[in-house]
Amino acid sequence: MRVAVYPGSFDPITNGHLDIIKRAAKLYDKVVVGVLDNINKKPLFTIDERKKMIDGVIADIDNVECDVFSGLLVDFLKCKDATVIIKGLRTVADFEYEFQMALLNKALNPEFETVFMMTNSGYSYISSSMVKEVAKYNGCLEGLVPEEIIPEIRKKYI
Ligand code: PNS
Repeated sequence: MRVAVYPGSFDPITNGHLDIIKRAAKLYDKVVVGVLDNINKKPLFTIDERKKMIDGVIADIDNVECDVFSGLLVDFLKCKDATVIIKGLRTVADFEYEFQMALLNKALNPEFETVFMMTNSGYSYISSSMVKEVAKYNGCLEGLVPEEIIPEIRKKYI
């Protein structure tokens, strides 16, 4: 069974993330969305809130699950019996950092492959940071994030 991990902060999950998850689910037997509990970052949403939002939007995709991790991504892959890291690439601006991470993960475990998927052109301008910026000033979030999580985002800025 081919298991892939799609890692990220998902603070919050966006339509760009969801598009990659759905497409990856067609390529692999199982996709695990790995939410990083990063003590060095100050996220808007707690790790439980981020996981709950993801669980809600992936509920109807059979072969996708979500779990939280801390520490190294390669260790998370091992514990999930995964061999593939899925990454989405939006623009060339993403490339350098992603390339560095892919090489580092390869050095940490040569058995694992990072597979890059090009973001759907309709989503290439969306990022979690931009979503938070728009939400902060009460802008329209439709089309940027899954509908069902919009109230969760709004709650943070009351
Ligand atoms: O959504 P993000 O914040 O861009 O995701 C970054 C993430 C979670 C993929 C990256 O920070 C990560 O894999 N962190 C885990 C720690 C680790 O394995 N570091 C070494 C390889 S980068």
